[in-house]
Amino acid sequence: MSPLLPEFDVIVLGAGAAGMMCAFEAGRRGRRVLLLDHGERVGRKILISGGGRCNFTNVHTRAENFLSANPHFAKSALARFTPSDMIALVEKHGIRYHEKTLGQLFCDDSAQRIVTLLERECGEAGVEIRCGVKVNTVRRESTLAHATKFIVETSVGDFTCESVVVATGGLSIPKMGATGFGYELAQQFGHSLVEPRAALVPLVFAPEDRERWCDLSGVSFEVMARAGASGKAKSRPQTTPEFREKLLITHRGVSGPAVLQVSSYWKPGEQVRFDLAPSREVLASLLEKNARREPASLVSALRTVLPARMAERWVAAQPSHDWTNTGIARMEAELHAWTLTPAGTEGFAKAEVTVGGIDTSELDARTMESRRMPGLYFIGEVVDVTGWLGGYNFQWAWASAVSAGSVA
Ligand code: FDA
Repeated sequence: MSPLLPEFDVIVLGAGAAGMMCAFEAGRRGRRVLLLDHGERVGRKILISGGGRCNFTNVHTRAENFLSANPHFAKSALARFTPSDMIALVEKHGIRYHEKTLGQLFCDDSAQRIVTLLERECGEAGVEIRCGVKVNTVRRESTLAHATKFIVETSVGDFTCESVVVATGGLSIPKMGATGFGYELAQQFGHSLVEPRAALVPLVFAPEDRERWCDLSGVSFEVMARAGASGKAKSRPQTTPEFREKLLITHRGVSGPAVLQVSSYWKPGEQVRFDLAPSREVLASLLEKNARREPASLVSALRTVLPARMAERWVAAQPSHDWTNTGIARMEAELHAWTLTPAGTEGFAKAEVTVGGIDTSELDARTMESRRMPGLYFIGEVVDVTGWLGGYNFQWAWASAVSAGSVA
């Protein structure tokens, strides 16, 4: 039997986007809420997000913008707390924002505004926030005075509560405080995991491609990108989505929004395919009567869609130049199917998010409550729901947090 411990209704583990939102949602209902984080301050990832301006939602958010072993799981939460609800909250706090591209909403000045919003809402809802607190274990225990409760053992002592909400995030950016604690806790209570992998992450070239392309580091252009087109690994049962965005060549491989998007779908051994001239026929001029069929004409045709250095390198990288109509058609086809087999990714140190996580089949989609342990909830990135680049991950954090916070 435990001695008398400080008692709360809800303890939220992790003061990131999901944890803070959930804490004040529960606090508004009159619940006594304790929010714990092992870091020195709250919302650290929010502060570095969106290049310091926090892409806090995407107005086009739909379940199709998320990866999960159960593609339907996110629907209920996303319908309950929508991008419009987040915009209303942002406007309530007088935060100015703008749409950058593709429905992505950013703060006009600083991501700090979003952290301040969350802190204020927590303050008004009476949430007790404690940073610099390491959570050691969580266990269930029957006490004399109450029915079964959770005991949360931490570096500053033990606490007891009716509900525990796990919002400790994924494995990306360990130096920002990411840990596998949420996964371990889930497993302790009998949950299974969908293997966590680095996602929204730059891809690394195999040595021969690095030699061929990496001196073009910094060169960027628009592509249509797709992962898992074919390759040594078994082909996918379903087709992965295509992304028409920018690719950036780096000193180790490729990055830029198009690559980050496909990285979430890519698995080791698979290819990625880039259309270097989406919806354009580039070499038609070479097929004209009297056209000069030579490398210089090829480069100048390619320069209508690619930066000069990339156009020149692509021509030089062709194994041979066949100037027949069939040869030109083949080069046109290759331009629309630049295929690489990456050696790997830059890993969790550089990944914006973690794909995979706590298996959703053991969670209630309306409340995020564990089906294995009543009173235990999982929200945000720790769950096997991962958004595309563009504000979707925060929208999932807010939405899953509200689902849990309104019942926990
Ligand atoms: P999050 O990781 O935010 O919070 C988890 C918290 O738990 C942390 O505060 C951590 O310290 C704490 N914690 C971990 N282990 C603990 C333990 N054992 N004990 C106590 N506390 C513990 N998304 C988006 O939609 N728009 C964007 O603009 C960006 N930009 C972006 C940039 C960069 C550089 C990164 C790395 C990520 C993004 N993201 C993003 C993704 C987004 O930041 C991410 O999906 C959310 O922060 C996830 O919110 P969570 O609250 O689930 O986890």
